[in-house]
Amino acid sequence: MTKLGDYTQTADFKNEKHAPLIECPDSFKAGEKVTITASVGKEIAHPNTTEHYISWIQLYFQPEGEKFTQHLSTNEFFAHGASAKGANQGSAYTEPAVTATVTLKQSGTIHALSYCNIHGLWESTKEVKVG
Ligand code: FE2
Repeated sequence: MTKLGDYTQTADFKNEKHAPLIECPDSFKAGEKVTITASVGKEIAHPNTTEHYISWIQLYFQPEGEKFTQHLSTNEFFAHGASAKGANQGSAYTEPAVTATVTLKQSGTIHALSYCNIHGLWESTKEVKVG
């Protein structure tokens, strides 16, 4: 059986415009409020046009040593220049960046999953130590 993850791309965000970048502290205290941001295109801008755009970014937490994954956040991006005047004639564009404030009780891995309407699924990870 193939899995969705078999088709999920990974890359360094510095070289690949689709790879999401996760930004948060490397370590923090259990129960402390922590802001996690995830964005696409920080180093190399991804197109944001009516025809080609980032649709959504999701954040997950995989607690160390546990079987099941926690879904932290889903953000969808709807404005890509579409207009009654025509494609790319609109006045609004949603940038593919999200912020989630979370508290965690143990160490684990943050996963960011992003979706480009043309180039599919991309994933990045960041380990966090919670003490
Ligand atoms: Fe793309």
